[in-house]
Amino acid sequence: MTDIQPPRPTPETAPVSVWATGQQVHATQRQGRYHRDGTAHPAKMLPALAAHAITQYTRPGDLVLDPMCGIGTSLVEAVRCGRRAVGVEYEARWAGIARTSLDMARDAGWDEHAAVYTGDARRLATILPADYLGTVDLVLTSPPYGDSTGGHVITTPGQGVRKFDHRYGSPRDRGNLANVGLGRLLSGFTTILAATVPYLRPGGHIVITARPWRHRAELIDLPTYLTTCATQAGLVPVERCVALLGRLTNDGELVSHASFFQRNHVVKQRQAGIPAHVIAHEDVLIFQADTGHATGARKTGDHADAPSAPPLLGFAA
Ligand SMILES: C[S@@+](CC[C@H](N)C(=O)[O-])C[C@H]1O[C@@H](n2cnc3c(N)ncnc32)[C@H](O)[C@@H]1O
Repeated sequence: MTDIQPPRPTPETAPVSVWATGQQVHATQRQGRYHRDGTAHPAKMLPALAAHAITQYTRPGDLVLDPMCGIGTSLVEAVRCGRRAVGVEYEARWAGIARTSLDMARDAGWDEHAAVYTGDARRLATILPADYLGTVDLVLTSPPYGDSTGGHVITTPGQGVRKFDHRYGSPRDRGNLANVGLGRLLSGFTTILAATVPYLRPGGHIVITARPWRHRAELIDLPTYLTTCATQAGLVPVERCVALLGRLTNDGELVSHASFFQRNHVVKQRQAGIPAHVIAHEDVLIFQADTGHATGARKTGDHADAPSAPPLLGFAA
């Protein structure tokens, strides 16, 4: 009998809780696969992170939903992994770019079903066709983190440094959860998570990626807040992983790809006496629907009374 050995896992595919998703810099991961206008989005998911989550939690032909899909990273990676994809994005500009990148995937031979809807995902039931109910194998998403994490800079002699591409849309539009305080962001995100539950197939997963940020000296532990949102939305935590943003060397060193903003932020924090570090990973939170809650959500079909945000431990909502 021939002894067939399973393929040796590579750092990118190994079933471990630390995902080597930063082996290439972000821009290289996107090259030739995404429309260049997407660089303007301030908080994109790492394509390797999306691809890793998709290959871990779905099979070919499965359906991936992202209710806050931005320029469509989760959808494009899904299609390029042979999965079907559906997304919702509040800003028409980002939704349009997502569609263009999905067209690029189709032109490259990935002829999977993919659709992007524009709208407020807190009212998912009014946006997504009922055909999708009970058919989603993976919800893969990431909430907006405010305007401090992304963007580009231009330096003009005598005029200092100017930031651009650091906003999701009009800062006055409070339908975009990037423009509301932490309390409303968490409350809105809870509503969105609860709204996705009726679309999940039994046994499907919800994967949320996020990172903490600092408000002056205080660490805002967004991943832990999001875990509370998820449990209030009727989800059960099943795993928690780390997706590296930097490159692992053969010697086990981590080489940071931190942006200008992140390095600059850390320098300023240290000057202020706060022992901050450059962020080296995203938290990846993995959930499944709690059957009891999921059934309830399906019955009502009404997301207006979704649970409110967890207490904010000293922060104004
Ligand atoms: C962190 S970004 C997601 C980026 C995306 N993963 C990508 O790689 O392009 C969060 C997105 O949520 C969108 N968003 C904010 N409020 C929303 C809402 N109420 N409904 C749907 N999308 C919303 C923002 O416009 C933003 O594009």
